[in-house]
Amino acid sequence: MTETLKEKYAPYFKVGSAFMVCDLETRKELIAAQFNSVTCANEMKVSSLMRQDGSYHFEPADQIVAFARENDMAIHGHNFVWHNQTPRWLFENVTPEELLEKLRAHVQKVKEHFGELATFDAVNEAIEDKSEEYLRDTPWKRVLGDNYISQVFRVIKEVCPNTELYYNDYNDSFPEKRAKIIRMLKELLAEGVPISGMGLQAHYNLYMPSLDDIKRSIEEYATLGLKLRISELDVSMYDFDKGDEIKMPNPEFTKRQADFYGGLFKIYREYAAHIDAVTFWGVTDKDSWLNGFPVPGRRNYPLLFDDNGQPKEAFYRVMDF
Ligand code: GLA
Repeated sequence: MTETLKEKYAPYFKVGSAFMVCDLETRKELIAAQFNSVTCANEMKVSSLMRQDGSYHFEPADQIVAFARENDMAIHGHNFVWHNQTPRWLFENVTPEELLEKLRAHVQKVKEHFGELATFDAVNEAIEDKSEEYLRDTPWKRVLGDNYISQVFRVIKEVCPNTELYYNDYNDSFPEKRAKIIRMLKELLAEGVPISGMGLQAHYNLYMPSLDDIKRSIEEYATLGLKLRISELDVSMYDFDKGDEIKMPNPEFTKRQADFYGGLFKIYREYAAHIDAVTFWGVTDKDSWLNGFPVPGRRNYPLLFDDNGQPKEAFYRVMDF
């Protein structure tokens, strides 16, 4: 392999990898060679760090952060406020003021330990997928009220004034959900909430969303004046939970995926002035979370590197311009 992703895209944006600490055992060289931004896939989530007795469990995240710093890679924090992977006891018998104080203490702890990271997902997945509803019903919202998102952004920013805070969500480019996300972002901006960016998770597949919808979405998010991160990119071979009967990998789908990735990165290059980083969720097909999700036992091939860490057709298409 000659030129790498991070070299080729240096004039445009950082190219990131979101991976787990166990991937360092097998994928260290590949990650260091190809990427210049790192996200801990699990290790910085609240439930990974915080223990009920008040102690903190930093070791796995430390290993990833040390690796990133040795290799001169940016570190993106993921995440502070989410309905998943957050201990339930945090929300038990707590007043709104107490919960905000707990959040403040947590953010402070993370800052003291890792320093102020340049970027962090302040809030993850707050918008509801169901058409008739707007905000997702979450423990944070139940305790803090409907305007919890502005409250938590403010608290986090007070502790970390130098960190650019992001809102991060999936189905980012489906028109209906996009409209709700845009509505929320506009409300936050109008209230002067310290939000710097929008993270498009970009868990896409070969069937949807269309490249047109993706382009339109990037355009709309960028028009708000926010920085963008493509934060969790992968392109599943399947129409979500359908298509089990298709034998994979197969050349037709491998080519369709390469075409999709090629089109996607063309759009990303066009909007490079707005994009801070494009981060893939997982390193190789073998390590992807989509193996077994949403269909238990089903293999998937959503990334640019195959099971052996070799570049796929999609890799070459992303590099061919
Ligand atoms: C969401 C979260 C990530 C991760 C993925 C699935 O997109 O933001 O942290 O859990 O789901 O792996």
